Amino acid sequence: MSKKAANGNGAYPKPSSKPFGQDGKALQGVRILDFTHVQSGPTCTQLLAWFGADVIKVERPGVGDITRGQLVDVKGADSLYFTMLNHNKRSITIDSKHPQGMRVLNALIKSCDVLVENFAPGALDRMGLTWDYIHKLNPRMIVASVKGFGPGPYEDCKVYENVAQCAGGSASTTGFRDGPPLVTGAQIGDSGTGLHLALGIVSALYQRIRTGRGQKVLCAMQDGVLNLSRVKLRDQQRLKHGPLTEYSQYGEGIPFGDATPRAGNDSGGGQPGRILKCKGAPEDPNAYIYFITQAPVWGEICDIIGEPTWKTDPEFATPKARLPKLNQIFARIEQWTMTMTKFEVMNACNAVDIPVGPILSMKEIAEEKSLRDTGTVVEVDHPTRGKYLTVGNPIKMSDSISEVKRSPLLGEHTDEILSDVLGFKAAEIAEIKNSGALSAPEKKEKAA
Ligand code: COA
Repeated sequence: MSKKAANGNGAYPKPSSKPFGQDGKALQGVRILDFTHVQSGPTCTQLLAWFGADVIKVERPGVGDITRGQLVDVKGADSLYFTMLNHNKRSITIDSKHPQGMRVLNALIKSCDVLVENFAPGALDRMGLTWDYIHKLNPRMIVASVKGFGPGPYEDCKVYENVAQCAGGSASTTGFRDGPPLVTGAQIGDSGTGLHLALGIVSALYQRIRTGRGQKVLCAMQDGVLNLSRVKLRDQQRLKHGPLTEYSQYGEGIPFGDATPRAGNDSGGGQPGRILKCKGAPEDPNAYIYFITQAPVWGEICDIIGEPTWKTDPEFATPKARLPKLNQIFARIEQWTMTMTKFEVMNACNAVDIPVGPILSMKEIAEEKSLRDTGTVVEVDHPTRGKYLTVGNPIKMSDSISEVKRSPLLGEHTDEILSDVLGFKAAEIAEIKNSGALSAPEKKEKAA
């Protein structure tokens, strides 16, 4: 491939002579008009901000992102819900339905590279910000949206996390076979879709280098969840060719129906695994370990649990022979794991390459030194709430190192954005402010 084709932007620049990590950030120079709220959109723009994009969050005057006031733990301070999803951003308050507010938005559209939004279907159009309008104002603008569903019968529906988990196939395949569908604690609908959207935006920015024009990027939460539940659609198709032998219900002799069933804690792949009790369970709700009977280390498993004859016994020696006896095998392994703490089991197994995972509580994760050392768990200071813990950028890059900066107060950067970013003169700023377009309704009345 020629150099031109490889990066789409002519020859590569000369490699920087600055040390790694000291020549800016990956998305330096990219400006984002962040019209997101709640969780899915903010997850996306927080990632872009960590990579160095200038993210300008537009919030409704007086209220802001609704999550500022949800699940409040410290009176008078922004909630952790908000602070943990809006690091490294700037906040400007604008009433998008006010003519002077639209004046500011027009200026932002002209000076930003990407507009990201996750309003209910049609809300952006109702503000007058249709694709045609935005594209005419700034043909380079990328317009990225999260919606609950893609085009189809449900496209007009509002969607939250658990609706997406249910509609994307996750809930029907999570939980135990004899229990109801379950949603997971991991926010695969909101944060998962935000992640997908971030990749779409970065790809669109890359394509724009070649084409010179923006495009629409859409991630439907149903689609994002389904992408993460892909292995279960795999199993749906395998069902046509016989039972799913790695599912516990196969060993228990329970027939399969016509849809991928819930499989409890069985491994997703072909390596049978279970969650087993360790010393302290069940009184300690997290004294458990995930134990995988990986075929290449079956010999080590037999030795460590004290069943050396299972290595050669034809009833146990091969993965196929073991599948119908998983209950018996895991019951025996559990007898052994219950003699030790989850960390002792982890140490013993890791020493002989047996893959296991201790069930870590959020308390243990918050206190884990190695996660602090890598910046995955970070302590941040905030002017109204004080110190709190957050999850830092989980994507580590050697030349684009993330610092986690606290989330903005509501409208904290309104003035600097109007003057420094948009270049409005003092008289224009006064005119916009006096119109009430940037302030809460009570103040508007006073200004009127
Ligand atoms: N100035 C003036 N009006 C503003 C504004 C601003 N700065 N910011 C938002 N608004 C208005 C919108 O224009 C909209 O008004 P309209 O309905 O009259 O057109 C209104 O606020 C409400 O927006 P909406 O997105 O409908 O919020 P909601 O609280 O009713 O619904 C969701 C919330 C999350 C259900 C919905 O936004 C949604 O389905 N989003 C897409 C899927 C999604 O991301 N879900 C996951 C969220 S984590």
